[in-house]
Amino acid sequence: MKVMHVVGARPNFMKAAPIMQEMGRFPGDFTQLLVHTGQHYDVRMSQVFFEELGLPRPDVNLEVGSGSQAWQTAQVMLRFEPVVNEFHPDWVFVFGDVNSTLACSLVCSKMGVAVAHVEAGLRSFDRTMPEEINRLLTDQISDILFTPSSDADQNLLREGVPAEKIFFVGNVMVDTLERLLPTARARFPALKAQFGLGKYILVTLHRPSNVDDPEILWEFLAALQEIGTEIPVLFPVHPRTMQRIGEFGLDITNSPVVFLEPLGYLDFLALQIHASLVLTDSGGIQEETTYLNVPCLTARDNTERPITILLGTNELVQRKSGAIKKAIRARVNEVPRKHHIPPLWDGKASQRIVGVLQKVG
Ligand code: UD1
Repeated sequence: MKVMHVVGARPNFMKAAPIMQEMGRFPGDFTQLLVHTGQHYDVRMSQVFFEELGLPRPDVNLEVGSGSQAWQTAQVMLRFEPVVNEFHPDWVFVFGDVNSTLACSLVCSKMGVAVAHVEAGLRSFDRTMPEEINRLLTDQISDILFTPSSDADQNLLREGVPAEKIFFVGNVMVDTLERLLPTARARFPALKAQFGLGKYILVTLHRPSNVDDPEILWEFLAALQEIGTEIPVLFPVHPRTMQRIGEFGLDITNSPVVFLEPLGYLDFLALQIHASLVLTDSGGIQEETTYLNVPCLTARDNTERPITILLGTNELVQRKSGAIKKAIRARVNEVPRKHHIPPLWDGKASQRIVGVLQKVG
């Protein structure tokens, strides 16, 4: 069967890679095509991931780039439709919750092309998040839904998705993480020397709700400014966040915080493994820290990944400078808590996904 994988933004790449690799083991069963929508286009947000994850060169690049939500979604749809017409895939695989995920599943469902959604069923129950809208709509129109945790199955069933479409396969990102853990570990000594690291915390922030409002963004920067005098803070800055810092005229010169360009997968993973704590608003990093047993503070009012709080190392923190500082100091100094890796986060999710497709395909 002909399978077309669609990737668009940074968090898609580590989810597509293990599935493509697994399908590659069965050349008699699958012909694969890779489409990059170009939602993320920088070397640091895209190309480096292709190289490090061993993803093949995309067969098609839609080169959409940045724009408003509506513009970006519409552009992906317009440019993707002719690609589907040209290649006639039997299945289109979409990943996660970015604008490209929704745009391509919408095109396929109206053209009668079967869609498989990987990382289905996650819900923050916060419809002000663009990603929540993408998740809700993609799940309604997908033909197979692969879930990473059992709460996702429950969400889908509650929304009326037929049980026979839902497959609890585990977390496909963990497949990539397990595969590349030794390579990432080997990179740590060089990073340690480069940044003179002992104990340190690692920070990422890019959600519109955290970085698009100057007052909220300043709450973070002010807290990190102070924490940075107590423990080194490494902060690889997402392009959106860097743009906002510039637009708002926020002064980050003379800060003790080490601001970096966005890092590749391997360097970022190496830094996560050894961090005393990670402060983030990302989805995937909540999961990676749970798997790695590294304390994580998620600066959001809610999470679509509650299992990382229930079983893992994650905790929500209010987006106020005082609350952020208090939570960082408490978690950095606490006795390690007992944590569990969620069920089926075992490096075999992509095998299960491919097994399902071989049966239903
Ligand atoms: C997107 C996803 C989000 C995901 C995140 C990971 C949506 C709605 N959001 O958010 O779910 O967690 O990616 O990174 O799809 N930019 C660059 N270079 C790039 C990419 C973006 O400079 O390679 C700049 C753009 O100019 C834009 C900003 O970053 O202004 C935001 O990019 P965008 O694609 O809109 O969404 P993200 O915030 O990255």
